[in-house]
Amino acid sequence: MDSLIVRGGHRLDGTLRASGSKNAALPIMAATLLAQGVCRLERIPVLRDIATMLTLLSSLGATVSRAADGGVRIECDQACEVTAPYDLVKTMRASILVLGPLLARHGKAAVSFPGGCAIGSRPVDLHIQALEAMGAAISIEGGYILAEAPDGLLGTDFTFDITTVGGTENAVMAASLANGTTVLRNVAREPEIVDLVQFLRSMGAEITGEGTDILTIRGVPCLTGGTYSVMPDRIEVGTYLVAAAATGGRVRMTDIDPSVLGVITDKLRSAGASVREGDQWVECEMDGKRPQAVDIMTEPFPGFPTDMQAQFTALNAVAQGEARVTETVFENRLMQAHEMRRMGAHIVIEGNTAIISGQPSLQGAPVMASDLRASASLVIAGLVASGETRIDRIYHIDRGYENIEGNLQSLGADIQRVSG
Ligand code: EPU
Repeated sequence: MDSLIVRGGHRLDGTLRASGSKNAALPIMAATLLAQGVCRLERIPVLRDIATMLTLLSSLGATVSRAADGGVRIECDQACEVTAPYDLVKTMRASILVLGPLLARHGKAAVSFPGGCAIGSRPVDLHIQALEAMGAAISIEGGYILAEAPDGLLGTDFTFDITTVGGTENAVMAASLANGTTVLRNVAREPEIVDLVQFLRSMGAEITGEGTDILTIRGVPCLTGGTYSVMPDRIEVGTYLVAAAATGGRVRMTDIDPSVLGVITDKLRSAGASVREGDQWVECEMDGKRPQAVDIMTEPFPGFPTDMQAQFTALNAVAQGEARVTETVFENRLMQAHEMRRMGAHIVIEGNTAIISGQPSLQGAPVMASDLRASASLVIAGLVASGETRIDRIYHIDRGYENIEGNLQSLGADIQRVSG
């Protein structure tokens, strides 16, 4: 199993190009199941979760191939399997995103029930409720969600009890081929939802309201293929900007519209960084200063993203002052705090809040990654620590960060991947 060895103490300095967004690419790839004809998707990142989604689509009968330029070609016309098996779903929860498209296109689907994971119980009850509201009959048998709508789905008016990104995505994909108009209320407003809606629209879907909390979808009889370029990964970009701030360095990210970063850049400014933005670039510069502690409360978009919480925990661990980091989206997403304590961080957990007293420095130690974003935060902690940090179980990081060690090396970090 691979590990990362980080020798801290180097200020990051340089420029990186933002990758395509994992969390936009996954639903968009699932949505190709709705299309007649070939879909060419550009800017698909090279990540383990993307490879898993490609494997899942092939297992459903789709023809998939990757081009050298990072693009992916998917043709689902021959796809007639409707089962997403346990072996794939257990390695990637986002496999649940094929439920809505399979049901809408084929009138039935069987998707292994995703269990809990390291960051929380993560139920899918709201995905199921939304599809039931569209007339699907759904049961749970042998660990599978079995869904049927032999005469097609019907337009409906449905309100989500709580805001869910994946639930919104499944519902909007299914509603695109339903008979009649669907109104979805209290939907997620994340930029990745906007990207999915734009992709569906490019295939012929009739949808309005993306970026607001109400989506209106007029079902159409069929969708067609086409070419679409996925949005940049705002969480990857945010992670490198935080790494710049934590190390007192400077990083410029290109190929990104800075407006999608929202509160991430506000919080970096509160931490004392100078953040400059231009047309398709953003730069964070700390000029050798120690960051100021910054309070965080995670919330659905446009609030502070839960996927950036762990990275700001690492920043606060070496900041001047005390910070409160409160996680409200997932019930168990402060795991990185325990590993950071092994590096000398002063963190007390009270319920869903980490109270962090910033220390002038951390010390390298062997630590273990528990999930994707926790792994990224341990890399940041390693970059600022004195001595050597060994991060084990980095298969988590390969789910969401393309070539993280190569990118950080190009910014001046001392980081290596080792096997065994
Ligand atoms: N929830 C329910 N019932 C449901 C669905 C969700 O109670 O049917 C709860 C969840 O348990 C959670 C909250 O609602 O407490 C929000 O979950 P959501 O459905 O919004 O999350 P998700 O769709 O499972 C996506 C991202 C996550 C990201 C969250 C929140 C993808 C593939 N995953 O997950 O990304 O943290 O939205 O923004 O888009 C990551 O990239 O590291 C990651 C975990």
